[in-house]
Amino acid sequence: MTVIGCGYLGAVHAAAMATLGHDVVGLDTDESRIALLVQGRTPFYEPGLDELLAESLATGRLRFTTSYAEAAEHGEVHFLCVGTPQRPDSNAADLTAVFAAVGSLAPLLERPCLVVGKSTVPVGTAEVLREQLAATAPAGSDVRLVWNPEFLREGFAVRDTLEPDRLVVGADDPAHAEELAAVYAPILERGTPWLVVDLATAQLVKSAANAFLATKISFINAMAELCEATGADVVALADAIGHDARIGRRFLGAGLGFGGGCLPKDLRGFMARAEELEVPEALAFLSDVDDINLRRRRHAVDVAVELLDGDPAGKHVAVLGAAFKPDSDDIRDSPALDVADALHDLGAHVVVHDPRALDNARRTRPELTYADDPLDAVRGAHVVLHLTEWADYRALDPVELAGLVAVPRALDARNSLDAPRWLAAGWDLRALGRPRLSDQVRA
Ligand code: UGA
Repeated sequence: MTVIGCGYLGAVHAAAMATLGHDVVGLDTDESRIALLVQGRTPFYEPGLDELLAESLATGRLRFTTSYAEAAEHGEVHFLCVGTPQRPDSNAADLTAVFAAVGSLAPLLERPCLVVGKSTVPVGTAEVLREQLAATAPAGSDVRLVWNPEFLREGFAVRDTLEPDRLVVGADDPAHAEELAAVYAPILERGTPWLVVDLATAQLVKSAANAFLATKISFINAMAELCEATGADVVALADAIGHDARIGRRFLGAGLGFGGGCLPKDLRGFMARAEELEVPEALAFLSDVDDINLRRRRHAVDVAVELLDGDPAGKHVAVLGAAFKPDSDDIRDSPALDVADALHDLGAHVVVHDPRALDNARRTRPELTYADDPLDAVRGAHVVLHLTEWADYRALDPVELAGLVAVPRALDARNSLDAPRWLAAGWDLRALGRPRLSDQVRA
């Protein structure tokens, strides 16, 4: 099989398919990315991927190329794993890479084969690709297309690929879905739910799943706003409603909100597609979900300014976390970096630490100052902002940190530090959606 597009999704998928016993060629048009992968090096940080890649390369069942001719010659199954970012000029998804991949591959498909779309696309895209394949592949209608959305999370990508909670395939013909079932046989044998649906439903499943997750996060963040207005505690509230199995506690983590290369752009792309389909009202509520999410970043900046006695100019702000979430070096649409940038724009001297994302952050936000050690970031700080909840930060000793800063004031924007420990160490600790923790303790 081939995996076309070796980014976060494709690199993991290619290595995972090789460990299932398949003979895999990974293709990417980015030569530098392929140059790394052939040496068993990953172009990004994903726990477990280095090991999986090394294991797969050692079997001889995984290789990489930039050549579509080689991929077309090799593949009986072609997985499409290219990116679909947000367009710079609108909310819609940019499908350039998807159409370019199929445009390059189709004219080279001379034998019957299965093309499996995994990229996140607006509903209706697969149907257009199916026509494009039928019209331009020499093998014509012997090139089958199915849609197999991907639900992996960065940070857990290897596990989510090899042990998914479900596999969904959209197919015109159940026989095409059976071909894909054969590919995933070792996973399906473990009893993984296998859902065969039509093409449109398969594409919608992915958009709906991400929209629901985003809505859940924004719901609890809207509750955080109410908690701030009333003195209530959003963490206790989430615990209490989360015990209801119909609601569930997962993804009720209130704080700085969601970022990354998926939830924000998928939410917007979904709204843009609903407009094209002339049912904009069906997803109008997602615009509030997006607004609530972005309001959290502005609110974190406001709290930071308050902790700086209203005057951020010239003050040293220590930022813990640059990645959009822990266990990732991905800084796409990172809430942490947005907050850091906003404070820099207000004149603060912002020093950022992250265990993995510093190189990416340095490249895209050169205006900020970076520290390779969290203790260096906080030394002399007037406020410490905990913006990405790496386990490394929970392991820091608040007593030691209090001895390094200029003023022991902090904002836990992810509600994950051990508040009693920080308070006991003399910190003035604020959180989002929670009463002033320091006041509570003093009372
Ligand atoms: C998300 C989905 O969870 C995956 O199922 C999906 O496959 C993927 O997008 C994708 O479309 O490719 P991911 O972007 O890796 O995965 O990250 P999540 O774990 O979903 O977190 C997204 C953001 O939400 C992060 O910024 C995180 O900090 C934030 N979040 C998450 C919260 O603010 N609160 C929570 O309770 C959970």
